[in-house]
Parts: sequence; structure tokens; C-alpha cells
Amino acid sequence: MSQLEPDLKVPLGSLELKNPVIAASGTFGYGQEYAPLVDPNLLGGIVVKGLSLKPRPGNRPPRIVETPAGMLNAIGLANIGVEAFLKEKLPWLRTLDTAVMVNIYGHTLEEYGAVAAALKGAEGIAALEVNISCPNVDQGGMAFGTDPAVSAAVTEIVLRNTDKPVIVKLTPNVTDICAVARAVEHAGAHAVSLINTLTGMAIDIDTRRPRLGNISGGLSGPAIRPVALYLVYRVVRAVKIPVMGVGGIMDAGDALEFLIAGARAVQVGTASFVNPHATLDILEGIRKYCVEKGIVRIGDLIGTASA
Ligand SMILES: Cc1cc2nc3c(=O)[nH]c(=O)nc-3n(C[C@H](O)[C@H](O)[C@H](O)COP(=O)(O)O)c2cc1C
Repeated sequence: MSQLEPDLKVPLGSLELKNPVIAASGTFGYGQEYAPLVDPNLLGGIVVKGLSLKPRPGNRPPRIVETPAGMLNAIGLANIGVEAFLKEKLPWLRTLDTAVMVNIYGHTLEEYGAVAAALKGAEGIAALEVNISCPNVDQGGMAFGTDPAVSAAVTEIVLRNTDKPVIVKLTPNVTDICAVARAVEHAGAHAVSLINTLTGMAIDIDTRRPRLGNISGGLSGPAIRPVALYLVYRVVRAVKIPVMGVGGIMDAGDALEFLIAGARAVQVGTASFVNPHATLDILEGIRKYCVEKGIVRIGDLIGTASA
């Protein structure tokens, strides 16, 4: 007997994604870099590299270290800046039939507002994803996202300066991620995504120097998956807005764990460095699972984890 194609569409606030697989920020460039290998039109969405108001060269090298089951990166949010993005990248992105989400960040509250304002009215952007994990220069370098009140203030200033849905990307480097999630929900965020990288370091025992030019970096890859899954599971139960799961998703089984935990969609990051085709392999694996299990709509699977 032939099986019906499962309906993989997922609602994400006012957006509807054609499926729940999204390429994560910083690991998929501005989309075009992967286009010869991965047809972006098949994905639920892509999140482009984090944009700041002005172009940034990023941190001094070395900027990447391989770790057991993962990697540390200290790219330092190198990017072309919002103006060049609008001129050089958005025209191509706009031709795609996928949800293009633009990751933004600032070092001051005003900078967050200014980046959002610069993107206001631009066609072809489905949503903003706000990275609140970067250092807040006004508060001695502590990340915005470690304080619920400051996270809410970032959300508010972005919302005041945009006409797009706002997804706030949470950092796991906090005592209580649910408090931050609730604060940004209260401030009006349309969705949250989590997790960003976990802070770590590595030392070269011959030179006795940190292996990253920046000393510390962000840990990503399968090593962080259990942490990410647990935090997603908790945040799903703490807020009413949709949650996107990110962190160490390498294959369809990993992605399905996040969906069953209650994530409305998943983002795939480091896996694309190991296997550039990972996003589409994961999508195909989810589809096959639904067919095998007789799941007609992916929505029937989301959040079905029993205690
Ligand atoms: C090289 C690299 C660059 C990244 N750049 C960004 C960024 O610009 N903005 C952001 O919010 N997250 C950034 N991230 C974090 C990822 O989007 C993702 O949250 C994290 O890596 C965990 O997922 P993963 O284990 O699937 O990679 C970056 C991650 C890596 C590895």
C-alpha cells in the first residue's frame, strides 16, 4: 500500500515554514555559498550570518579548534555589515522560495535598534533572529542575554524598529534560561531559538597558550546536544511562543528528538561543516520517519514527549 506524503508544514507565529529544517546562523554563510550543494528552496528556512551595523573583521586567528565531538569557534561575528547585506546579498536571497531569517546583533541597545531599522521595509526577509549572546559594552562585556531585564530591553528596541516577526536566540550560558525566555516573551518576541554556543577554551600544551586567539570560544556540535535538548524541553514548557531547537543536531534522529521535545522547528549548524548536505539529509530522514510511523502531519509529532 502506498503511503501518503506527510505534511511537513509548521506554523511559526505568523510565518508558515514549508518544513521544520532550517540552516543555523554562521554555518551557512549568506545561503549562496552552499547553493551549488544544497538547494535552499527545499529547506524550511535559512538564517544568515549575524549582521552588525558596520562591517566587522572578527577576532584574531586562530578562530576554530576541533574538540571531542564538537568544535570551538571564536569568529567574533565577522560580517559584511547591514548595508552591504542589503545591496549584495538580499537581492539573491529574495529570489528563494524559503523563509530567509536575518540574524542581527549589536554591542549596545541602540545598535540593535539601528540594525533592525536598517532592515525595516526590506522585502524578502521573513523574520529577524536576534542574537543576544554578544558582549554588552555598556555593561562591562557581560552578554545581553544573561540578564532577563536586558534581554527584554533588546527585544523591545528591536520590535520598535522592525516590521518583521522577531525571534530571540537565547544563550545557554545562564543559570535559568526559562527566566530569560519568559522575559523576552513578555516583551513581545514572536518566537525563541535555542541554544547558541556554550563558552569554552582549549590550551596547547607545547606552547602553553590558549589555542584560540580570543582565548575562549563557543562550543558547538554533538557534544552540546543533550544540553540543548534539555533546555529546549524546559523552555517549551515555560513559554507559549514557538521554540526552535538548535545544538548538535547531526542527523534526522537528533532532529526528531527536538521536535518530540516540543520544538516547532530545528536549526542545523556544525553538521553542515561535516556534511554540507546535512540539512537535506535530515529533512529526508524526518520525512521517512513520518512515512514509517504513519504520521500524516508533522504537527502531530511535535511536543509529544511523555514524562
Ligand atoms: C562558526 C560558527 C559561527 C556562528 N555564528 C553565529 C552567528 O553569527 N549568530 C548566531 O546567533 N549564532 C552563530 N553561531 C551559533 C549557531 O548558529 C548555533 O546556535 C550553534 O552552533 C549550535 O548549533 P550546532 O551545534 O548545530 O552548530 C555560530 C556557530 C558556529 C559554529
